[in-house]
Amino acid sequence: MQENIIPHNFSVDLEQLKAIKNHNAFLIWFTGLSGSGKSTIANALNQSLLEKKVHTCILDGDSVRKGLNNDLTFSPDDRRENIRRIGEVANLMITHAGLVVLGAFISPYERDRSRIKEIVGEDKFVEVYVSTPIEVCEKQDVKGLYKKARAGEIKDFTGIDAPYEVPLTPAIEIDATKHSIKEAASLVLTYIESKLNNNG
Ligand code: ADX
Repeated sequence: MQENIIPHNFSVDLEQLKAIKNHNAFLIWFTGLSGSGKSTIANALNQSLLEKKVHTCILDGDSVRKGLNNDLTFSPDDRRENIRRIGEVANLMITHAGLVVLGAFISPYERDRSRIKEIVGEDKFVEVYVSTPIEVCEKQDVKGLYKKARAGEIKDFTGIDAPYEVPLTPAIEIDATKHSIKEAASLVLTYIESKLNNNG
């Protein structure tokens, strides 16, 4: 099948997109447990980027799993497929739209996160590990899911009866118990500032 797919050679390239947007396009990937603060930090960062006139798109587990990936479960294979599709979507947003993409997904497996890095390219991938301890995520239990998982009403719940593999070399690590949301977002912003405007 794949041999019959011949991609069209679209003429708009990253340089043209950069010229019109005034910044580079890349992916900022937030990984961490459910309730660790990934989407909240990504949202605050998105707001700051908007104020700087950076063109962005934010994607997170709950929004993507409600639509595009509503056929997927939380088995290891389906999580892999979830992350693969998101990586491909993010890549299209980078290369065809020149956006800074903010992705907030548990993405518990190192191998799946490496795959995303391969899809978008290492130079376009910034991994942010939100390392809020599980005790805190579970205690706050904003969505009530840890309680359900403990009661056996949800299975394969990350941190309870499914694993979370800690990132080995994240660009940034943020424990949300040690920083305000504003501080956390500004840590990421400081890190990506040079990446937004360099010529690499
Ligand atoms: S991932 O593991 O495939 O990357 P993703 O980030 O898309 O997960 O979705 C995680 C969100 O789905 C959580 O924030 C939580 O709200 C919800 N959820 C429902 N069931 C589970 C589960 N078994 N494990 C983890 N999160 C779950």
